[in-house]
Amino acid sequence: MRILIVNGPNLNLLGIREPDVYGTKTYRDLLHTIRAYSRTKGVRVVCFQSNHEGRIIDWIQRHACCAHGLVINPGALTHYSYALRDCIKGVGLPTIEVHLSDIHGREPFRSISVTKDVCMDQISGKGFAGYLEAVDELVKGQKEK
Ligand code: DQA
Repeated sequence: MRILIVNGPNLNLLGIREPDVYGTKTYRDLLHTIRAYSRTKGVRVVCFQSNHEGRIIDWIQRHACCAHGLVINPGALTHYSYALRDCIKGVGLPTIEVHLSDIHGREPFRSISVTKDVCMDQISGKGFAGYLEAVDELVKGQKEK
């Protein structure tokens, strides 16, 4: 099974960016954690991060053909990107939206997600563990097919 892991704007700054909110571990640490966990589940992950909406959309469109699911933390794009929403719906991959922080307990604009309705689930506020839970959900979904 192959899963795409996509991180949106500013997630490359993990470890530097607002450590009180996002923790002190880096984006590299995140990838390492996801890769190590996925390996134990027999899942191959292909990871991508960009600060550019269009690049994220291009990348998902290009890789969707060869994947069974998508785990995406769209960063701030969550709150306004109808283009990303259309992309997720358009490629038709089972998708889980993940947020490191609890977006429902922060500024009101963060609790709005324009992408969550086209995703199977939204996991928020569980830090790195949220990505691992998302991988598990996709694996479970694939097994039930
Ligand atoms: C985030 C939450 C978003 O509101 C924010 O813009 C991010 C990160 C999270 O992982 O908690 O960039 O998606």
